[in-house]
Amino acid sequence: MSDFENRHKEKFLRIFEKELKKIDKPIILEFGVSKKALSTSIFLEYCEKKNGHLYSVDLVDYSYHFKSNNWQFIHCKDDDYDKIESIIPKNFDIIYLDTIHTASHVEKILYHYFDKLNIGGVFVVDDTSSLPYLKKREKNNFSLEINNYETFQKLLEIFNSNHENLYFESSFIGTGAVKLTKLNDNKLKRSKTLSDRRLSFLNLVRKIYLKLKRIV
Ligand SMILES: C[S@@+](CC[C@H](N)C(=O)[O-])C[C@H]1O[C@@H](n2cnc3c(N)ncnc32)[C@H](O)[C@@H]1O
Repeated sequence: MSDFENRHKEKFLRIFEKELKKIDKPIILEFGVSKKALSTSIFLEYCEKKNGHLYSVDLVDYSYHFKSNNWQFIHCKDDDYDKIESIIPKNFDIIYLDTIHTASHVEKILYHYFDKLNIGGVFVVDDTSSLPYLKKREKNNFSLEINNYETFQKLLEIFNSNHENLYFESSFIGTGAVKLTKLNDNKLKRSKTLSDRRLSFLNLVRKIYLKLKRIV
């Protein structure tokens, strides 16, 4: 396994650590399988042990990866709601999104499927850290840096508008992930831009004051 794959696996195991231990008969919906099927193989092993079921969606036909009574592959896009909903059950313990890593796509899929989570269930979004894609880092990539940054900011905004209804946890291992835990059955409210005070006049005064203090 490459260093990158090791980190992806480590991040995955850590972010799902509690859920993989505690949920019996887990029902899992996963978007994004890939040639390597790392997340699929971990989820499936766990479903086979705990008598659960995994539904995996990908636009490429990866149905050849596994033969298991605990697995169903759905060959379509993650926003082909009619097809997916004709196959999946009503509720899930875990939903995992690892397909298109733009803020607008993540927001669309999150709002569509979030209602299907059980209370205490988790929605995990992969690829939320821009750090490995910064200029002097090993993955140096402008568009992935910006996509991941915008996705993380969007998830913060969604959390801020729903802080009574969610927990927000984040990993910065590898390319990062965010886990949202559903605390109640309240409908997810639309997000608003964060009204923080970094660019306020008050902060400007604070910065000038701190600079002057250092000089004197
Ligand atoms: C990063 S890979 C998934 C990696 C996998 N979760 C793992 O841990 O090994 C992304 C996958 O998403 C699929 N994909 C991309 N856009 C999609 C979409 N809109 N709907 C469904 N699958 C999509 C790609 O075909 C690819 O297999």
